[in-house]
Amino acid sequence: MNKIKKHIEKSNKVPRYTSYPTAPHFNEGVDSDLVNVWYNNLYKKVDNISLYVHIPFCEKLCLFCGCNMKVVNKYDPIQQYLDLLEKEILLISKALKNCPHIKHLHFGGGSPTALKGADFRKLMQVLKKYFPIDEKTDIAVEIDPRTVDDEKMTSYTDSGMNRISLGVQDFNEQVQKSVNRVQPYDLIKLVIDKLKKQGVKSINMDIMYGLPFQTLETLDDTLEKVLSLSPDRLSVFGYAHVPWMKAHQKLIPEEVLPDTTLRLQMYEKIKNYFVNNGYKAIGLDHFAKVTDTMVEALDNKKLNRNFQGYTTDTANALIGIGHSSIGYTPDGYMQNYLEPQQYKKSLEDGNLPIKKGFTVSDVDIFRRNIINEIMCYLEVDLKKYNDDWSNFFSDEISRLGELIDDNLISLDDGVIRVPDTSRSLIRIVSASFDTYLNNGKGKHSSAI
Ligand SMILES: C[S@@+](CC[C@H](N)C(=O)[O-])C[C@H]1O[C@@H](n2cnc3c(N)ncnc32)[C@H](O)[C@@H]1O
Repeated sequence: MNKIKKHIEKSNKVPRYTSYPTAPHFNEGVDSDLVNVWYNNLYKKVDNISLYVHIPFCEKLCLFCGCNMKVVNKYDPIQQYLDLLEKEILLISKALKNCPHIKHLHFGGGSPTALKGADFRKLMQVLKKYFPIDEKTDIAVEIDPRTVDDEKMTSYTDSGMNRISLGVQDFNEQVQKSVNRVQPYDLIKLVIDKLKKQGVKSINMDIMYGLPFQTLETLDDTLEKVLSLSPDRLSVFGYAHVPWMKAHQKLIPEEVLPDTTLRLQMYEKIKNYFVNNGYKAIGLDHFAKVTDTMVEALDNKKLNRNFQGYTTDTANALIGIGHSSIGYTPDGYMQNYLEPQQYKKSLEDGNLPIKKGFTVSDVDIFRRNIINEIMCYLEVDLKKYNDDWSNFFSDEISRLGELIDDNLISLDDGVIRVPDTSRSLIRIVSASFDTYLNNGKGKHSSAI
């Protein structure tokens, strides 16, 4: 543990590699016109695509929140946003000639539960009108258990939703109060029971460690409660404290935050608990029941990583809809305007609301494949990437030297292996293959 801590504290803060190159390297060379061309040609390059719809609204502010969202007390801004989403959907569908089948459709936020049930139904109707969404499409919605009601739940299941993701974070009352996110166990259980009764097959829960006042003892109770609810998948996030980006996080006093040692102990505790209770650890921060399709994807090397984290989605293109949404095509990444006014103006001018992106080269794709293998499978065979691997990757290998010398990872005959005990280091191992990272752009959160 001490050696792992040393490397985490020594390494510059490293990205989570939900893309490569990572978002701080996106540039304005990718604009609406270019993405329009990418979309026009997409049907020639991919068999299916996925959609992500961002609903950037919440009723209450969680102090830990690092997402792109706004707290609203009135429905007007949401209504106006829905009108803009419809414009964007229409523009995208015009640009996509012969639109391929939609494999996954994910509603994230913020909180999609900010939408009234009737508006969610309407949004789904619009999406179904313009995109080939059918019973084979995997539809997922992120749910804030505090703001969902029967009408909203029925609107999700009537619209074909088969997966939900619940923001749970922690069950301890003091922790919940300290981050302004109070939600009792009974409430969460009720929501899950109702959704299961309505036919929802797969339930994911978001859990966080490194929160204010969390201790190894408070985690015991939280973990027991989580297990009793039997989620199919878990996303376990280390709290990213980035007050220079999210001013409201300044309301969390740093002295009540667990330090690196405690964060590492929490991570290990959570991992061991779930692995000993019928789950398999997946990559950096996911767990899935051994019978879940995500474990199948892991075993068959079909696991992927995108902006929502680990996914079984194998579509080679993801189109992001809404403020700040990020997507990708085989040509590169694209991100929508984060600024509501620019997002609106672009749509009113009849343009895709693209702010920036990254045109990927073959070298980027080559490096992305290596990073994805490490992030998903904790192992990569460098021989697959270059016969003369020891010369070709000599810089990367020398960056990994100390981790190898400390026996935290191994390099045998070109195969880099990260053992389960060093799982928390995979961001650092991946970073050694990131040629953009040393340019100094981008400030990320702690590596644990
Ligand atoms: C996009 S958020 C929205 C989820 C949902 N609206 C909810 O009920 O909270 C998805 C997840 O990101 C995680 N998250 C948010 N802020 C974070 C931060 N600063 N560090 C680590 N994880 C964070 C939380 O676990 C959260 O549930």
